[in-house]
Amino acid sequence: MSNEPTPSPQPDPPARIAVAGGTGTVGRHVVEIARRRGHDVVVLSRTTGVDLVAGTGLEEALHGVQVVVDVSSQVSQKSSESRDFFGTVTRNLLAAEAGAGVGHHVALSIVGIDRAPHGYYAGKVLQEELVRASEVPWSILRATQFHEFASQIHGAVTLGPLHVVPRMLSEPVAAAEVADRLVDVATAPAAGRVRDLGGPRRERMVDMVRRWASATGRPGRVVAVPLPGALGRAMRDGSLVTGADADHGTTTFDQWLETVR
Ligand SMILES: NC(=O)c1ccc[n+]([C@@H]2O[C@H](COP(=O)([O-])OP(=O)(O)OC[C@H]3O[C@@H](n4cnc5c(N)ncnc54)[C@H](OP(=O)(O)O)[C@@H]3O)[C@@H](O)[C@H]2O)c1
Repeated sequence: MSNEPTPSPQPDPPARIAVAGGTGTVGRHVVEIARRRGHDVVVLSRTTGVDLVAGTGLEEALHGVQVVVDVSSQVSQKSSESRDFFGTVTRNLLAAEAGAGVGHHVALSIVGIDRAPHGYYAGKVLQEELVRASEVPWSILRATQFHEFASQIHGAVTLGPLHVVPRMLSEPVAAAEVADRLVDVATAPAAGRVRDLGGPRRERMVDMVRRWASATGRPGRVVAVPLPGALGRAMRDGSLVTGADADHGTTTFDQWLETVR
């Protein structure tokens, strides 16, 4: 046996990484983590003068960029609007990347998008199709709902003091842990679809929303309703949680709640 000391892991060579949606919930963690690891980061968002739908400012922003991480998003749950946004943004990004000689496109997607007929997911399915067909080498990471999802869904449907949430089985994951994995993927060679990332445990969405409302002092009652049809079934039957061959973050929903109290 050799007495040579084990070499300590070498940091990645610094790369120039563009983060599309780098001001968003997961995007701001991607930017922070990539910078902390010594990479040169460019943020692509309207706040920084790049409109990914209109394509304005994109060509200049991609100058010298080696990897693009796309974590942009829009709020509409309508299929046509979601397909318009993710289709247009993905086409614009991939065309600009091909022109600028970007060597790797990384897209963040969602576990179960092809198992649930949800309007927002229709846009994510189109996004994945476009990325897979692209000449730019690519990686796709699918993650489950972020812990923040509970706060977003709390105010979505209200009836007086009642907050109505769909009956749903979720496996929430910390956005920071998704971001950490995205930076790993971005700084490795393009790998196609990588292993899905979920949270450490499964939770009922109604319980998550109640715990978030209680921790943040929101009044009112939170009730769960079963959504009808195939979407409702998919939400309830585990279609949106990871399968056996997935990785898992370690930050539980309750640990995350401690940070937002
Ligand atoms: N939320 C979840 O639970 C979850 C779970 C798994 C995967 N995902 C995926 O993760 C990705 C990010 O989601 P998120 O919740 O972090 O998004 P988000 O918080 O809504 O942030 C969206 C980002 O997109 C940017 N953006 C929107 N329209 C733009 C435009 N026209 N041009 C340039 N930038 C634009 C926004 O910046 P400006 O407003 O400054 O332009 C912002 O930085 C999405 O692809 C989503 O499908 C989300």
